[in-house]
Amino acid sequence: MKVISTEYSQILGARISQRLGVGLVDVKFSKFPDGELYLKTGALDDELVIVGSVTGSDALVQLLLLIDACSESENRLVIPYMGYARQDKQFHPGEPLSARAIARAVANSVSCIYTVNVHDEDVLRHFGLPTVNVSLGNDIGIYLKSEFSNPIILAPDDGARYFAEQIAGSGNWEFDHLEKTRISGEAVRMDPKNLRTAGRDVVIVDDIISTGGTIAAAAGMLYEQGAKSVHAACVHGVFTGGAYTHLAAAGIKSVICSDTIERACSEVSSAGIISKALSEC
Ligand code: R5P
Repeated sequence: MKVISTEYSQILGARISQRLGVGLVDVKFSKFPDGELYLKTGALDDELVIVGSVTGSDALVQLLLLIDACSESENRLVIPYMGYARQDKQFHPGEPLSARAIARAVANSVSCIYTVNVHDEDVLRHFGLPTVNVSLGNDIGIYLKSEFSNPIILAPDDGARYFAEQIAGSGNWEFDHLEKTRISGEAVRMDPKNLRTAGRDVVIVDDIISTGGTIAAAAGMLYEQGAKSVHAACVHGVFTGGAYTHLAAAGIKSVICSDTIERACSEVSSAGIISKALSEC
C-alpha cells in the first residue's frame, strides 16, 4: 500500500504515510495556460490510499484528476474535509443537493471512503459505497489538556453537543451547548443561556469555523456573562473572509484547528485517527 495526496492535503498525506509506515507517491501539480489543472503522478505499482480535502473548486477538480490517474488499482479514498457537506437540503425548488453532487463525483474507482467529522453523517449515504467517519474529539481533548487546567467546553448549538462531550471527556471537564439561530450565511443569533462561566476559561468547540460568525457571537455573550477568557477549537478551519482576524478582534484568545485543512494553526493532526481507521478496515 502507498499514500498519494492532492496539493491541498500534502502535509496530512505525508503524515498518514509515516504513521502507516508505507511509501508516499510523488505527484507534480501544475496548470495549463488557460488555467485548467494538470497533474502527473510518479510510478503507481501498488494499492493506494488517496487523500484529498474538498476545500473548494480547484481542490475538487484536483481530487477528481488524481482519482482518475490512479484508477488502475484498487484504492481507498480519504476526504479529510468534505466541503459542500452542509448543503444537503433543498430549501427552494431548483436547488441542487450539493453534498450529493460531490459524493457522486468522487465515488468512482474507489472501494471505501473515509471522512473526518463530516458535518452530517447522513450525507455519507450519497457515496453509495462503504464509508467510515472518524471523530477528532478525543485528539482535540488531549491537545486542550496540555493548554488548560479546568476549562468549560461549550458547543455553539445542540448539533455539536456530542462533540463537546467527547472533548470534555478527555479531562472530565464540564460541557454544555448554547442556543444558536442562523439568520443568514454570515449572521447568527446566540440566545442568552445561564451558564456558570464567570471567571472561567471557556473553549467553544465546533466541527467547522467558516466565517467565524458563530464563535464570535458566542464569545460576545460569554464575555458579557463574565468569562475570564474565550478560546475556540474546531476540526475544519475554513476561515473564510478573514475569519481568523475577525475572531481575534472579537477577543478570542486562541483559535486552533486540525490538519484536515492545512493551516498555520493546525495544532491537532488527524493522521493518527485516519491511519487507525485505515488499518482496521
Ligand atoms: C454549522 O452547523 C456548523 O457546525 C458550524 O457551526 C458553522 O459552519 C460555522 O460557520 P460560521 O463560522 O460561518 O459561523
